[in-house]
Amino acid sequence: MRTEVGIIGAGPAGLFLAHLLHRTGISSVILESRSREDVEGTVRAGVLEHWVTELIKELGLGERMLREGHFHDGITLQWNRHRHHVDIEGLTGGKRVTVYPQHEVLKDLVAGLLARGGEIIFGARATAIHGAETETPSIEFCRDAANTPEMLHCDYIAATDGFHGPGRQAIPAAKRVEYQKIYPFGWLGILTKAPLSWHELIYANQRDGFALLSTRSPDVQRMYIQCDPAGSISAWSDARIWDELHARLDTGDGWSLTEGPIVQKGIIPLRSFVCETMRHGRLFLAGDAAHIVPPTGAKGLNLAVADVRVLARLLDAVHKTGDQSILDRYSATCLRRIWKAERFSWYMTTMLHKNDEESDFERRIHIADLDLIRTSEASARSLAENYVGLPFDKGDE
Ligand code: FAD
Ligand code: DHB
Repeated sequence: MRTEVGIIGAGPAGLFLAHLLHRTGISSVILESRSREDVEGTVRAGVLEHWVTELIKELGLGERMLREGHFHDGITLQWNRHRHHVDIEGLTGGKRVTVYPQHEVLKDLVAGLLARGGEIIFGARATAIHGAETETPSIEFCRDAANTPEMLHCDYIAATDGFHGPGRQAIPAAKRVEYQKIYPFGWLGILTKAPLSWHELIYANQRDGFALLSTRSPDVQRMYIQCDPAGSISAWSDARIWDELHARLDTGDGWSLTEGPIVQKGIIPLRSFVCETMRHGRLFLAGDAAHIVPPTGAKGLNLAVADVRVLARLLDAVHKTGDQSILDRYSATCLRRIWKAERFSWYMTTMLHKNDEESDFERRIHIADLDLIRTSEASARSLAENYVGLPFDKGDE
């Protein structure tokens, strides 16, 4: 089997890349180890930056998002049982974020790609990457139903295979530098069949720990609470989860969170991670394969799309000019945006969570940071600009 760009993984990075390449006439094949049902059913991120929403529309895939997504002009920050609305739209000259779940985005991307003649092989696990330093790289893979290895020959390989995929390991260890921070807390996420409790997302810093109120649809809500990442989900009865959510989101002014049956729950650890370099010969890492952010800034999915936006543009330029040296810009261009998203995600995480490893001095600093957003327009604007998605650097266009 042969294609121009072999893509490992049908997550946001792989699927957006295939669409962007298709638009410029470059062929690709996606190998995805999971089934289509599994890919389209896994609940993850929820917030799309302004430019990602625009890109989805530009790709002609926005119909359902425009119908079913929630467009938010701001977020609420809460501390000391006080709520403060951050006017994202007003502070960014009219930009809003969209709450439209990752798996719904993936459904639209998969259906759109297949309708345009794109190729996604579900149930195909990439097992090895060959010849990344040559002009004829290939991906060895195995289909679920068979034990016989097959080869996908290509001009370039995009490893959009998430944090645990084989892509990053295919860059020799001596050529990689990895930066990592593990946080001493995780998030317990739930889906509940309940009506909206508040008109926008609430990020709450409470003495007992962080809580986030988000949404999925008028009848299904998404909520998170800070928890022990090593704890077992079985220790979290529904009653305990509601008790914690009430305690952390309460404002003492009569407002009350509306409960409903919990239909899904799970715990995720929080980490920051960056791999430099993101390129080895004709192998390119993008998305979670190259970096992880703690979810507090809602950046993971958006950053994955930003990487492949760069990659698709550079591959298009190489296609048109034949000049391979254009690809030398890939890593540095992506990393400039990645480190800013890492900074913002770390800032939001440290400001909003309870960290037993910190002193009372640091806790006071976090409250001062929150109060600065309330009292300083410059501080609020900086948060809003990062949250809605930083403008692209002129050199990165
Ligand atoms: P992924 O979405 O991980 O996609 C990688 C794909 O590659 C997967 O489909 C995988 O099956 C496939 N793959 C892996 N190995 C192979 C192989 N060998 N062969 C073929 N295919 C392979 N971000 C937020 O902003 N907010 C959140 O609330 C949030 N919650 C999250 C919850 C969880 C449990 C996780 C894991 C992540 C969460 N994230 C969240 C992060 C966000 O979802 C990711 O940043 C985003 O999915 C990254 O997209 P990606 O395409 O780079 O990787
Ligand atoms: C959601 C997840 C996030 O990480 C975030 O910062 C905001 C919303 C969500 O899943 O809805």
